[in-house]
Amino acid sequence: MKPGSLTLRLSILFALTTVLLLAGIGAYLYRFLDVELMQRDHAELAGKVALFRHHLAAVNSLSQIVAAPNEFRDALIGNPHLRLALLDEAGNVLLSSADWRPGAEILKVPVAADDMPHGAAIQMPTPGDPYHTIAAWGALGGSAGGRALIVLSLDSREAQGLLAEYRRALFAAMLFGGLAAAALGFFTARNGLRPLRRMAETAGDISASRLDHRLEVAIAPQELKTLAAAFNAMLERLRDSFSRLSDFSSDLAHELRTPINNLMGQTQVALSRTRSAEEYRAVLESNLEEYEWLARMIGDMLFLAKADNAHAPLNAEEIDLRAELDKVAEFYEALADEAGLKIVCTGEGRIVADHILAQRAIANLLSNAIRHTPPGGEIRAAIVATDRAVELRVSNPGPGIPPEHLERVFDRFYQVDGARERSDAGAGLGLAIVKSIMRLHGGDARVASEPGLLTTFTLRFSAGGGQA
Ligand SMILES: Nc1ncnc2c1ncn2[C@@H]1O[C@H](COP(=O)(O)OP(=O)(O)OP(=O)(O)O)[C@@H](O)[C@H]1O
Ligand SMILES: [Mg+2]
Repeated sequence: MKPGSLTLRLSILFALTTVLLLAGIGAYLYRFLDVELMQRDHAELAGKVALFRHHLAAVNSLSQIVAAPNEFRDALIGNPHLRLALLDEAGNVLLSSADWRPGAEILKVPVAADDMPHGAAIQMPTPGDPYHTIAAWGALGGSAGGRALIVLSLDSREAQGLLAEYRRALFAAMLFGGLAAAALGFFTARNGLRPLRRMAETAGDISASRLDHRLEVAIAPQELKTLAAAFNAMLERLRDSFSRLSDFSSDLAHELRTPINNLMGQTQVALSRTRSAEEYRAVLESNLEEYEWLARMIGDMLFLAKADNAHAPLNAEEIDLRAELDKVAEFYEALADEAGLKIVCTGEGRIVADHILAQRAIANLLSNAIRHTPPGGEIRAAIVATDRAVELRVSNPGPGIPPEHLERVFDRFYQVDGARERSDAGAGLGLAIVKSIMRLHGGDARVASEPGLLTTFTLRFSAGGGQA
């Protein structure tokens, strides 16, 4: 059992609880017994005081007591634990059992004479003096009056012994109770934690190639159901990421194959026989295009990989979104003109963002729009600022995106059927980059499209900007 073991912890807790409980109950009973014994002693002493007061009332003078001490002594027969002393007002002992002289303390306690017959001084037993002592005045009979101090003392060692015995029994009970509880707790916890061990075994069986395994939530105990469900959800996400990762590598291989095949084909053809300088030049120029395409794709991939583990801080500052939009639109104006298109920008808004990244996102949307707008169409880029967010909406007429593809256009390498055949089409990374950029800024990117009518991409920057 390791120090962090739940079983160990539960056993210890179990034992501690038991010991505490036993100690609490034991202390309560101990106190009860203590008080009870004390009261019994007191009752006995009070009874004897009453008895001696009665005897004193039958006596006329103190000298009579000294003359016939046995009348008083006899009252103690059968009470070996009791000691008696009778004193006069000056403190002289008139009579005592076994020459006992009461300690000075009890005599110092003033017992008011006018409190008779109830007043009494009491001295409780202490470890040094195990006697329970009581002192009270008793009035003499006869017309002369007078009184004597009755001092009675009860040996409480027996009661103390009983209490000591009780304490020992209590400690033994606590010790054995604690040990028994620890052992019991150990077995109970082990038993109770069995489902957890089973879950751990199942979890241990899961590996990259067996991500389909799931914990059985239905038969898991109530307390572990949430854990099992959360674990399963985690597996689901893992499997998702995993399959995305393998899709990604196969897509990547696929994307690389075409340009490399082209390069190889062209080069092989060129090398098959001697060619003129112009012919070589033409091959090299064609190759350069493929290289550029490859370089762009690799650059995009690199960007996405970096954005994915966004450790580098954003170079964010407050920028004028309209100014950035105008810059990008101007850059694309020639291309738009060539295609017979118009780009119309409207609205104003300030955001906190990295202006290079913002430009890149806008550029990706505009280049898509230009690519998909039929000649004569108008591309609108509108900035709409509310107090909570600033949105940039880029819309263009055209064939649009069928609803079943809407969800996936932001995925890497995803292109709506047919895009790949276009000569100007890229690798399908543009929108994935847009999405990454928006995620880095704590915003998001959405698309809405009515096929044949209008397609609108919306970038939403939260008003505060910054990294999410
Ligand atoms: N404005 C639009 N109208 C219609 N379809 C669009 C529009 N913008 C994007 N799409 C579709 O979404 C797909 C993904 O776009 P994305 O920008 O990610 O890739 P791409 O433009 O094909 O390649 P890249 O951007 O890497 O050059 C496109 O292939 C296209 O089919
Ligand atoms: Mg694109």
